[in-house]
Amino acid sequence: MPYQAPRGTHDVLPNEAHRWQFLERTFATLVESYGYQEIRTPAFEDTELFVRTSGDTSEVVTKQMYSFQDKGGRDLTLKPEGTAPAMRSFLEHRLGQPGQTTRLWYTTPIFRYERPQKGRYRQAHQVGLELVGSPSPAADAEVIDLTVRFFRNLGLSDVRVLVNSIGRSGARAAYRDALVAHAEPVLRDFEPEARAQVDKNPLRLLDSKIPAVIECLADAPSILNYLEPESAVHFDDVCTILTELGVSFEPAPHIVRGLDYYNDTVFEVQSGDLGAQSSLCGGGRYDGLLASIGGPATPSVGVAMGIERALIALEATGKAPEAPRPDYYGIALDVESASLLRQAAARLRDQGAQVVVDLDPRSLKSQLKAADRSGARSALLIGETERAAGQVIVRNLTTGEQFAVAVPNLTHAPA
Ligand code: HAM
Repeated sequence: MPYQAPRGTHDVLPNEAHRWQFLERTFATLVESYGYQEIRTPAFEDTELFVRTSGDTSEVVTKQMYSFQDKGGRDLTLKPEGTAPAMRSFLEHRLGQPGQTTRLWYTTPIFRYERPQKGRYRQAHQVGLELVGSPSPAADAEVIDLTVRFFRNLGLSDVRVLVNSIGRSGARAAYRDALVAHAEPVLRDFEPEARAQVDKNPLRLLDSKIPAVIECLADAPSILNYLEPESAVHFDDVCTILTELGVSFEPAPHIVRGLDYYNDTVFEVQSGDLGAQSSLCGGGRYDGLLASIGGPATPSVGVAMGIERALIALEATGKAPEAPRPDYYGIALDVESASLLRQAAARLRDQGAQVVVDLDPRSLKSQLKAADRSGARSALLIGETERAAGQVIVRNLTTGEQFAVAVPNLTHAPA
């Protein structure tokens, strides 16, 4: 094979694309019912935008960005996530005024130099949304409620909704010290470089895959005990509204998220069908992001769902939608009948039918084989006799039943 898709990327093939369309349609219909409007941002942005917002100690910035200089010497990066670009655009185009709430949604590729495995890619895709401008706990609850509904509407009900609060910077500083103190017995054995990483961002310990760290942290202090009073009230209010809305969730003090822009509420939805990459989505509140890129303080909250991961989980349920089948497969038995067949096909398409027309003059047998392969429910057949009478034969390809009808009277009866 001379060329293959680059490592960590994949093609969405014709027999899979309908599932992507189903997911994107399900998402767009749902978010639009809450008043979100679509935004599309470029595939690359100034590198500095991501360094500023995701944080210069985050894995995304330190290890995963696809950064390059263009021929004009600009430092650019393929977007590793969709929130910072959406907020850059919000600010650049003044999409909201102070005190107003703006609701944005998007579907986007993201690029991260990760070790590829099932559910983890170097080009992945997300659907996501940002609720910009509201400090209310009702905003956090709206985003979480909508997220749970999205997975339910897709057909995924067996999911865990994990919600936490990481407070404000003071709470996180106090908690970091407590966490490092608690983990000190295992941290002593760390190589200096690994230890320096921990000291830079101790919260990453909570995502550690090292067995000794996991064991040590089993009884680590909970960040919920370090929250500022207003963060504690906010978190309680979010939980109360979620309960009112009938959303089942679990408080999960170990969820801290890998991007640095969050404060207060953070959450993930996990599925048992995903193996190691169990997060279907991640989100949270990010009140400081807009100010960090030169905008006014603008409390905001959002979420992004991994499209590939949601589809893996959906396929595991066995309920993923089937590929759509054509309604009709058109067959002309001789070259002269092709014109009438095209008229018949056009008539049916005008009525909303999916019609595939065989283009190559060949035997009835090979055209019928092609009709079977296409999955069409019925065949349209026109030969010399039908042409002379201005008719078409409609044959049900499952039962073999057929009837002839004048082309101007042809009507589509949806399956
Ligand atoms: P994130 O947790 O980095 O958050 O990504 C969200 C979701 O995207 C993950 O839960 C996962 O489903 C999917 N995902 C991320 N990286 C990959 C990958 N390499 N391969 C496959 N799927 C992946 C964000 O991106 C934030 N911008 C979410 C957000 C929006 N926060 C506020 N607003």
